[in-house]
Amino acid sequence: MSSNPASENPNSIFCAADIVLDSAYQGIDAKGWQALFAQARKANLQQFIADLFAGKHLNTSEDRPALHSALRNLDQKPVLVDGKDVMPAVANVWQRIEALCNKWEGVTDVIHIGIGGSDFGPRLAIEALAHVPGIETRGMRMHFLANIDTAELGRILQRALPHSTRIIIVSKSFTTVETTKNAKAVVRWLKDSGLTSSQINNALFAVTAAVPAAKAFGVKEENIYPFWDWVGGRYSVWSAVGLPIALQYGFESFKAFLAGAQAIDQHYQSAPLEENLPVIMALALLYQQEQHDIKSFAVIPYADALDGFPKWLQQLDMESNGKRVDRNGMPVKFSCPVVFGSSGSNAQHSFFQLLHQGTEVIPIDFIAIREPMSHLPEAKEHHRILLSNCLAQAQALANGKKTANPNNTYPGKRPSNLLILPKLNAFYLGALLALYENRATTLGALWNINSFDQPGVELGKVLAKPIEAALKDSVSVAADANIDAITARRINLFNS
Ligand code: F6P
Repeated sequence: MSSNPASENPNSIFCAADIVLDSAYQGIDAKGWQALFAQARKANLQQFIADLFAGKHLNTSEDRPALHSALRNLDQKPVLVDGKDVMPAVANVWQRIEALCNKWEGVTDVIHIGIGGSDFGPRLAIEALAHVPGIETRGMRMHFLANIDTAELGRILQRALPHSTRIIIVSKSFTTVETTKNAKAVVRWLKDSGLTSSQINNALFAVTAAVPAAKAFGVKEENIYPFWDWVGGRYSVWSAVGLPIALQYGFESFKAFLAGAQAIDQHYQSAPLEENLPVIMALALLYQQEQHDIKSFAVIPYADALDGFPKWLQQLDMESNGKRVDRNGMPVKFSCPVVFGSSGSNAQHSFFQLLHQGTEVIPIDFIAIREPMSHLPEAKEHHRILLSNCLAQAQALANGKKTANPNNTYPGKRPSNLLILPKLNAFYLGALLALYENRATTLGALWNINSFDQPGVELGKVLAKPIEAALKDSVSVAADANIDAITARRINLFNS
C-alpha cells in the first residue's frame, strides 16, 4: 500500500443495486487491478458465473448444482436442473407462503428451530428488519432456537405462550441432532402445557428438503414447505427457510428481500468484471492474501441492526471456502481467511487496538448505512457520530501515524473497503447478503475450491455418538477404537 492510497486509485467507486463500494483504501494501483482482472479471466471466472446460474453441477463432490439464485428469480425465467424447470415448484412455495401469511392470525410467538444455515439467515433478517423505522410488523415474539444447550430452550419456553405459539422446524436434512432434539423438547412442552394432539399438529410447521422425514416426525403434509438439495444450507435463507421474514414483516417484505438479492445476481451476471462488485471484493481479498499473506478478514457493519451479519458471514465464508484442497484434491496455497467482526462503533472498543497496531495486517470491510435507524430526536446527531467513526477508522488504518514513540505509532497500510447502503430495508438487506454470497462463490472459483460442500463438519458429529453413549452410562471408560486415551480420561472427569 502506498503512503497515499486514495490518490492511486481514483476510480475506486462502484455501484450495484444502489449499494456503493469504495475500494480506494485497498492500496491497489491500476496495474495491480489489471493483473487481478487478468487472473480472474485466466481462472475462467465469467464462465464459472454463467455455469453457476445455468445449474451446472458445480458442487462436484455431491454432484449437484448450487442454484440458490433460482429462489430469488422473481421473473420466473426457466431455470433447468438436469433438464427440468424448477421455477414452478419455487413459485408454488411462494404462493403457499403468501397464503399462510394471509391466514396467520392470533399468533403471539414463533419458535424457529434450526441451526447453522437454517438459523443464521432468518435470525439476522428478523433482527435487522426490526430496526427499520416504520416497518410494518406483526410484532410477534420471534424466538430462534439453535443450541442443544437447554439454556436457550429454557429462556424461550419461559417467554412463549404455548396456546398461541407456532413452531417452525427448519432443517434441510431433518437429521441434525440439535434441531430434532429441540423440536421434540418443544413438542413435549406443548403437551405438558395441555395442548391436544390436534392442536399440536396445527402448531407444527417444517421447512426441509427431506419431506418424508418431516412427515415421520409428525408434521402435517400441508404444513411442510419444501426446498431442494440444490440449495446449500448456508445459501438457503431465500427459500422457505426465510418464512419468519414473511410472517413477521409481510409477504411483500419477503419479496423485496428476494428482489434485492435478484438485483445483485443480475449485476453479478452482467457487469464487466472491472465493475462487478462481488468480483472486485473477492479480488481485493485475493490481492491482500497473495501480496501480504493475510490470515484474517474482519467485517464491521456500522449499524447495530447488522450485529448478526458477521456471524452469518462466518458460516457463509468459512464453511464454503475453509478448505485445504482444491476441486481436484490438490493442496491449495490459499483459501478462506478467518472471518470475524461485530458492529461498530462497539467493535472499536474491543479489538480495534489489534487492527491498528497488531502484528498482522487484517483487511476490513466497513459497512455503513446512509440513513439513521430510528426516528428519535437524537437520531441524526448520533448517526453523524457513527458515520464519522466509520470513516475515521478506515483513514487511520490506511494512513497510520508516525511518532517518535513506537508505542504511539500506527503503521498504517491496513486495507479496507467501504460499502454504503442507502438505507436498511428488506431490499437492501437482500442485496447485501447476495453480494457476499456471490463474493464467496467468486473466491471459491479463484481458489478452485468447491464452495458448496462441507465435509469437514462430519467427523466430529460421528465421534460425538460413542462419546455421548459413554457419558450416558456414567461409568469409567477405557480408550477403544472410537475414543482415544485423552478423551477417555476427559469422559471419566465428567463421569466421576
Ligand atoms: O454443520 C453443518 C450443517 O450441515 C450446515 O451446513 C447446515 O447449515 C447445518 O448443519 C444445519 O443443517 P440442516 O439444515 O440439515 O439441519
